[in-house]
This record gives sequence, C-alpha cells and structure tokens, in this order.
Amino acid sequence: MKIVKKILVVLLIALVLIQFYRPEKNNAEYRAIEAFEAETKPDKNVAAILENKCYDCHSNKTEYPWYAEVAPVSFWLNDHVEEGNEHFNVSKWASYSDKKKDHKLDELIEEVEEGEMPLDSYTWLHGNITNSEKEQLINWAKKARENYHIN
Ligand code: HEC
Repeated sequence: MKIVKKILVVLLIALVLIQFYRPEKNNAEYRAIEAFEAETKPDKNVAAILENKCYDCHSNKTEYPWYAEVAPVSFWLNDHVEEGNEHFNVSKWASYSDKKKDHKLDELIEEVEEGEMPLDSYTWLHGNITNSEKEQLINWAKKARENYHIN
C-alpha cells in the first residue's frame, strides 16, 4: 500500500511539472482560406463542413478546446495538428503546384470515402461527418479537380 501511495505522489508531481511545458500553438491571426476557396469553390454547405471538421488540422489556425491547455493532451493534440498540416494545409494552397493540388484533392476523396478523415480522435468530441456530408465533400472535390487536369 505504501509503495502505491508513493507512486501516485510521484505521478501527481510529474503531472504538475509537465504543465510548464507547452507545445507551440498553431494560431495565426486568421485562417487564410481565401485562395483555397476561390479556386475550389465549395458551396455554403461544403464550406461549413470544411470549416467545422477539417481546418483545425489543415489550416494555419486551430480553434483550441479548453483541454488543449492540459498536458499531456496538449502534446498529443499538437502532434495531430502538425502532422495534418504537413500533409495538407489550405492556408498554403497558393504555394502548391497544380499537380500537387490535384493530388491532394485526390487524397481527400480517398480519405473521406474510407472514413479516415476527420481523425477518429477528433470525432469523439467534435462529432463525425454524416454520409450526406461525405458525399457532398467528394462531389465538390471531384469537380474541383477539373481545374488541374492537364490531360
Ligand atoms: C484532428 C486533426 C485532423 C482533422 C480534424 C482532420 N485531419 Fe486530415 N489529416 C490529419 C493527419 C494527422 C493526417 C496525416 C496522417 C494520415 O493521413 O492519416 C491527415 C491527412 C489528411 C489528408 C491526406 C493528405 C496526403 O497528402 O496524404 C487529407 C486529404 C486530409 N487529411 C483531409 C481532411 C479532411 C477533408 C478533413 C475534414 C473532413 C480532415 N482531414 C480532418 C489530421 C486531421
């Protein structure tokens, strides 16, 4: 019993100390999505799905929930944001080549079709997208790809 108590105290101290370490936040002043939307032309519904379910990890501005302040959740969450943006960041859309844009939209269709996006852990608290929302995203992305078809 004594040893369990000691371990708990040590864990508690570690949990308090870790709060002093904060990952750098992904919080630009605003979400630069204009170039992306001007080119891919989502309608109102699709724009809202992207805004509410995707841009937290795929733009330069994340709306952080309160629990993002608490380590170690903050580190875990930050990993998703960093990795998500590494693969696909709509705020950097203008800097992508046509080939890359086409490829990212192709990936998007695949990820959404397979139910991989939004990430499972995100849907626990933000909710998932419905089948109709999936369909709307896929149709929009297919249409948007026509901008970049070279052949
Ligand atoms: C909680 C963070 C998070 C959310 C929310 C999220 N994603 Fe992602 N996304 C990631 C991560 C991490 C990766 C990279 C790893 C992977 O592919 O699973 C990724 C990868 C992708 C890729 C693949 C890019 C490539 O080059 O392979 C696309 C496309 C994508 N996401 C689209 C979306 C769309 C569309 C939504 C909303 C319906 C969304 N994501 C929501 C984190 C997120």
